[in-house]
Amino acid sequence: MLTTNCSYSGLRTLRWVLACVAAAAFLGACLSVPATLKNEHDVPRASAPVDVIPAPAMAVSRDGVFPLRAGTRITIPRDPQAARIAHYFADLLQQTRGMRLELVERSSASVAEHSIVFRLDPPALGSNPESYAIEVTSQRIVASAGDARGLFYAAVTLWQLCTSGTAHSGLIELPALRIDDSPRLAWRGLMLDSARHYQSPEFIMQFIDWMALHKLNVLHWHLTDDQGWRLEIKRYPRLTQIGAWRVPAGAAAAADIDPATGRSRLYGGFYSQDTVRRIVAHAAQRNVTIVPEIDMPGHASAAIVAYPELGVTARPLEAVPADWGVYPNLYNVEDNTFTFLENVLDEVMALFPGEYVHAGGDEAVKDQWKASARVQARMRQLGIADEQALQSYFIQRIEKYLNAHGRRLIGWDEILEGGIAQDATVMSWRGIDGAVSAARAGHDTVLSPWPTLYFDNRQGAGSTEPPGRGHVGALREVYGFEPIPAGIAANQRQHILGLQANVWTEHIRTEDRVAYMTFPRAAAVAEIGWSAPERRDWDGFVQRLPAEFARYRALGLRYSDDVLRPSGDSRQWGAFERRPSQELKTCTDKLVLSVEDDAPIGGERAIFLIDIMNPCWIFESADLSRAAALQVAVGQVPFNFQIGKDREAIKLTAPQTPAGELEVRLDNCEGQPLAVLPLAPALASNAVTTLPMARIAHTQGRHDLCFRFTQRTLDPLWALDWVQLLE
Ligand code: ACM
Repeated sequence: MLTTNCSYSGLRTLRWVLACVAAAAFLGACLSVPATLKNEHDVPRASAPVDVIPAPAMAVSRDGVFPLRAGTRITIPRDPQAARIAHYFADLLQQTRGMRLELVERSSASVAEHSIVFRLDPPALGSNPESYAIEVTSQRIVASAGDARGLFYAAVTLWQLCTSGTAHSGLIELPALRIDDSPRLAWRGLMLDSARHYQSPEFIMQFIDWMALHKLNVLHWHLTDDQGWRLEIKRYPRLTQIGAWRVPAGAAAAADIDPATGRSRLYGGFYSQDTVRRIVAHAAQRNVTIVPEIDMPGHASAAIVAYPELGVTARPLEAVPADWGVYPNLYNVEDNTFTFLENVLDEVMALFPGEYVHAGGDEAVKDQWKASARVQARMRQLGIADEQALQSYFIQRIEKYLNAHGRRLIGWDEILEGGIAQDATVMSWRGIDGAVSAARAGHDTVLSPWPTLYFDNRQGAGSTEPPGRGHVGALREVYGFEPIPAGIAANQRQHILGLQANVWTEHIRTEDRVAYMTFPRAAAVAEIGWSAPERRDWDGFVQRLPAEFARYRALGLRYSDDVLRPSGDSRQWGAFERRPSQELKTCTDKLVLSVEDDAPIGGERAIFLIDIMNPCWIFESADLSRAAALQVAVGQVPFNFQIGKDREAIKLTAPQTPAGELEVRLDNCEGQPLAVLPLAPALASNAVTTLPMARIAHTQGRHDLCFRFTQRTLDPLWALDWVQLLE
């Protein structure tokens, strides 16, 4: 039942969001419970603060300083892996500090005095391959590890030590110290949605570079969804010839004619297999394993458009759709469809060498399966009782195929419903209950709960934030997340593989914004996943952020500095300032989004904060003693949200004139009308229109003002951009 409710509430998801309010309270309760992992490294006696994120397990200060300047020697080891890492460090230092080291090939057993050394020692028995040590003395820096993965992280930490302050006259004075470091959790991931919006291969590789610099080691790559199939599959070329392209939603995109075709311009792109091999090889060099996701049995519209025989309904889908939310389109359960999926997975496994393949499993509403005589007949043939069990059969069949090829299946927590596949790993997104159930049942799990680890939530409430979901998922909220749920017994904790944040891109159209929405929240994920609970300290983390931000700038990484901005600086109540929608209050909090306008096609677009279930805004505490008039700017956004039956719950107010009006009421939305602004001047524009000024009756004191549009249909939806009071 939960699946149907959750899925159809849409957009990950309305009812779900409401349930999460309760879950968040539970989560808050979890945060105060200290967790101790059976296999956690020992937490040391004392640790000196160092400007490193994630905080290392142990750092001990020593006397002395190692002076680092251009020309300081770095000994390139004979071992090719260690040599690669030494080069990586030297290149990084040059890129971000402009400091060129002298590379010295190691020709003998001796090590040059006053040099930096990277050393692969024989691994200690039972040691974690990601562990490493750094010893800085006044004579030498030695970075060592038993495994190339650990040595790579030694290079990352050393680079952070070298970039934590300002270099004076080209000199970096590194205080002597010893660091011994080891991760808390094995899976420290980010999910990137390249289906809703496509990012270039160059950006994907850069994203991997940035992950590596945070010791994040899993990129879950969301490659297929309703709105696009992004992975070249040689056996099924239409997946990318057809499935990778769509006309974006809205009138502006429909009117944007491609002269080459005479039709609306298509948006999209895909990753060729050569490109994927390049990305996978690059990721391996950065300790990042890519877990590809081929979503099934839902989120399958793009594949079904390309190969209609995969779908359930007789009427083929005409084109790859552009709405966000949850479509009803599922794969059918014919043997031929499983053969298709297995053939796809053969190519996926050949491209991605990691242990895991993600099979999705989320938000598969069962209406089409229920309505299809053919699917029902198959269920009877197979002796399957209901559609929930059919999904379980579906995922188990895929799991068997993956297992037979030496791989493991991971899926969203819906794969628990109807019976979980034997060895499947559960990615818990609808809160943390999925993780608790999975671990109790002896299954591995990764925590990735909405809303805390959903990076499509806005990072701050200001009007300069890029589009996203309306919930403000501030850095502190992310940092407060505890990945070992309190409900998990000590003997089940080994099933918690780790955590992951998800960068869904429905509202994140550009690469620049992907970076902004991800950082620095990814730094918080890194610290939660890597550092022992005893090392976690919000104030200390914030103190380390200025150095982190300086590194981001040196790397050319666009990030949010919302956390360091003085609070409340964007609001000057009572001044006759213009309040953008982000500084108004939505009348309700049903499904609040910060959506981007669909126009102009090229150039800056407005961003509207709007509750799409109830487009209505409150201008709080307006000083009406001074106001003689008001002015507003409005836009129209496509209602491109698949929210199923919840659409019927949206109440529209009938207009008085054909074009509709914006009504302004005093004190609340049932209050006395203060102004009515005709929308006719804005009707022809897909972008923002400033409506003619409206006079208001003289009113004493401060009052709330309610703004609500009248309209007959939902698409397009009117949105408020800003309001201004005039004297
Ligand atoms: C999900 O957010 N649908 C996993």
